[in-house]
Amino acid sequence: MRDWRLGQGRVALVPTMGALHDGHLALVAAARAWLETQGGGRVVTSIFVNPTQFGPNEDLATYPRDEENDLALLRKAGCDAVFLPTVADIYRPGAQTVVEVTGLSRMLMGRLRPGHFRGVATVVTKLFNIVQPHAAAFGEKDYQQLAVIRRMVADLDVPVQILPVPTVREADGLAMSSRNRRLSPAQRAAAPVLARALDRAARMVAEGAGLAAIRAELRRMIRAEPLAEIRSIDIRDADDLSRIASIQRPVAILLAVRFGDVLLIDQRVAHPK
Ligand code: PAJ
Repeated sequence: MRDWRLGQGRVALVPTMGALHDGHLALVAAARAWLETQGGGRVVTSIFVNPTQFGPNEDLATYPRDEENDLALLRKAGCDAVFLPTVADIYRPGAQTVVEVTGLSRMLMGRLRPGHFRGVATVVTKLFNIVQPHAAAFGEKDYQQLAVIRRMVADLDVPVQILPVPTVREADGLAMSSRNRRLSPAQRAAAPVLARALDRAARMVAEGAGLAAIRAELRRMIRAEPLAEIRSIDIRDADDLSRIASIQRPVAILLAVRFGDVLLIDQRVAHPK
């Protein structure tokens, strides 16, 4: 892969944890589209279920794995190479160095999942250093993750262009996620409430509603689903995720909701009048 970087064309990386779906494949397509604007090159997808971004009581052991199907999907999607390291390849004994985006990592999902974004920023830095891509694609679905990566790249002068990719959804609006396959049929039927609530909240933002009214409406809609357990509802500045007192600029509406033991997240950027 280093030879590719030195030779003709560019390299675009798609970091994933596998159990691939159309959301991941949209990242592969975005990486390919970027390469076309650069005179061509190769798409590399990494598949690595990164243990350091899971908390002790999280779903590392049950995280879905489906390598054979992943490779078939990537082949069909026109990915040029797959990087499939083992945990021992990535984390060697004696390692002491981590990458932490201090402010952004401690808010929102970082509060619910302490250490999560440190694990993400560290493994993404390592993947960048191993694969040495010119660009890397990340989904807007994991909005705070995208913000963390952008901050890290800017702060550390990392020579990788970040390509943001809009959220890919099922026909009923549910954001595609590897964790969706762990939902029971009843939970799966209830889960699209997140997308409906976000649509409604975005309309309210456009109509000039206030923060308190929008939050109350989000809570009301999600609570109407008995299988949904709200973990967090946040409305933040869309650029830096800072707290806001009123809606003057585009906002990111961020939801984290549990269905049984499956934590789903979804987001939407909304624009005031
Ligand atoms: P994973 O959850 O496998 O997601 C890999 C990439 O796919 C992320 O950039 C994520 O935002 C994107 N993605 C997931 N669902 C999507 C959807 N419905 N639409 C568009 N993009 C979607 O995120 C991770 O893995 C890890 O934290 C990782 C960055 C690989 C570091 O370990």
